[in-house]
Amino acid sequence: MTSIKDSKCVLVTGATSGIGRALAQCIARLPSKPCVIAVGRRQERLDELAKEGLETVQLDVEASYDALKKFADEIILKYPNLDSIIFCAGVQHEFNFKGEVDLSNVVSEININYTSVVALISLFLPHLLSLGAQGRKCSIIPVTSGLAIVPAPWVLNYSASKAALHSFSVSLRAQLKNTNVHVMEVIPPLVESELHDAYGTTEKLSRFWMPLEEYTTKTMEGLENGDVYITTGNIQGVFEKFEKGKDELAEQFQKRREEW
Ligand SMILES: NC(=O)c1ccc[n+]([C@@H]2O[C@H](COP(=O)([O-])OP(=O)(O)OC[C@H]3O[C@@H](n4cnc5c(N)ncnc54)[C@H](OP(=O)(O)O)[C@@H]3O)[C@@H](O)[C@H]2O)c1
Repeated sequence: MTSIKDSKCVLVTGATSGIGRALAQCIARLPSKPCVIAVGRRQERLDELAKEGLETVQLDVEASYDALKKFADEIILKYPNLDSIIFCAGVQHEFNFKGEVDLSNVVSEININYTSVVALISLFLPHLLSLGAQGRKCSIIPVTSGLAIVPAPWVLNYSASKAALHSFSVSLRAQLKNTNVHVMEVIPPLVESELHDAYGTTEKLSRFWMPLEEYTTKTMEGLENGDVYITTGNIQGVFEKFEKGKDELAEQFQKRREEW
């Protein structure tokens, strides 16, 4: 697998706050000094990161496919060394299906957490495969959630969007098996961040969440080791119980399909 220590250029979406920002800052401080491209919507946060020496690009991942393509083309042209992408942008909405449901939030949550990631992966993959064919190890690192494995009913669409991204990642890993493009996955537990601010649950959750600094230290260890799955805290047990062996089966399915 690929260690983040070997990366020359890392793009991080969702880098303007929480987990994405903390990881982007830690990666930029690695002794190997990779170029880190921080991506998000809030320009003032990007400006702060630029002062710390990170490259920054503003993007709303809910943009049209053409706009995402323009973004990917410009990034590849400006940063031909780009070899690793961490997909951390995400939103979380609470829904009660016994009451009125704002379907625009349902669609938007799926777009941000799942569809945009798939679109960006498809747009960056030819570049990464071409670097990989030249012997460079590349990595695609979606950030999913423990709720991808066991859903939380009050954030049911969020849980489904992360389950979709997790499933997609397992399949993509099997498809890319014999290439130098490695699919890893960061699966956070409940972590201190701005994610839950919209529903007034932050204060209650702060009694249970893992402090961001502790989470970032543990996740950086996984990224440096090149772990395929970076699980932390209570997610390690959940992963062992429900996910063990899935990759091997997906690989077998893929192999059979290739033999047809
Ligand atoms: N914190 C947790 O408990 C937890 C647990 C499991 C998984 N996760 C996952 O970890 C990732 C990071 O979350 P976090 O907890 O660090 O939350 P956060 O602090 O709210 O960060 C979310 C990031 O996503 C970006 N983002 C949201 N909508 C976007 C859009 N339309 N276009 C571009 N960027 C957008 C935000 O930047 P802008 O607003 O500047 O665009 C922000 O940088 C998410 O994928 C989340 O689902 C978090």
